[in-house]
Amino acid sequence: MLEEMEPSLTFHFKKPNEISPEVLEEIYGLVSQSGEVGLSWVKDNLKRAFLISYAKDGDRVIGTMTLKRPLPEYARKIGRLAGVDLDGYLERGYSAVLPEYQGIGIGDRLLKGLVKRAPGAKIYVTIRMDNEQAIRLTRRNGMRLAGKFINQRTGHEIGVFVNTPSELEHQEQEACTTD
Ligand SMILES: CC(C)(COP(=O)(O)OP(=O)(O)OC[C@H]1O[C@@H](n2cnc3c(N)ncnc32)[C@H](O)[C@@H]1OP(=O)(O)O)[C@@H](O)C(=O)NCCC(=O)NCCS
Repeated sequence: MLEEMEPSLTFHFKKPNEISPEVLEEIYGLVSQSGEVGLSWVKDNLKRAFLISYAKDGDRVIGTMTLKRPLPEYARKIGRLAGVDLDGYLERGYSAVLPEYQGIGIGDRLLKGLVKRAPGAKIYVTIRMDNEQAIRLTRRNGMRLAGKFINQRTGHEIGVFVNTPSELEHQEQEACTTD
């Protein structure tokens, strides 16, 4: 399906300072609409991101995903809650594809493009455990569940997925094979 739309779709992978303020504003709007993140830091975090990806249909930004440099104290807090050492990790986040463009491989293309441009980087992502679509996309791209915690503000269970070998998954596999 992605191939059918390909002529009008373009994919972009850029440092924040290479993106025009207008496009950054569109990316911010898309992330706000997705409702998946608290918004107070989004603009600041976009400006200091490692790499921002976005897809356009013609002139319109219809999907985005970012590799962020998390503030060390933030990564440490998440790591402590989930029991994972996230020191030196980039954080994948601000993933949003407009509903009418979902499920045709745009998120997949953005994710693969980001990973390709960050060779050797350790990457984590936090996802609500009931967000099946986001988890399928994440697992299909070789990321593994490393830990979980409850968001005290919302009560949601959050999974921390990493692209490095995961102790938790290893334990789960061992438990399966000894059953
Ligand atoms: C999560 C989100 C970013 C995923 O983006 P997406 O573009 O819908 O994801 P994709 O289409 O790449 O996912 C791949 C799906 O498309 C299908 N697909 C179709 N054509 C494809 C192609 N050419 N290449 C890869 N996958 C393709 C895959 O089979 C897969 O289906 P499945 O999930 O049933 O297995 C998007 O659903 C979204 O914005 N959700 C709301 C906000 C959100 O939850 N953000 C994430 C917070 S962590």
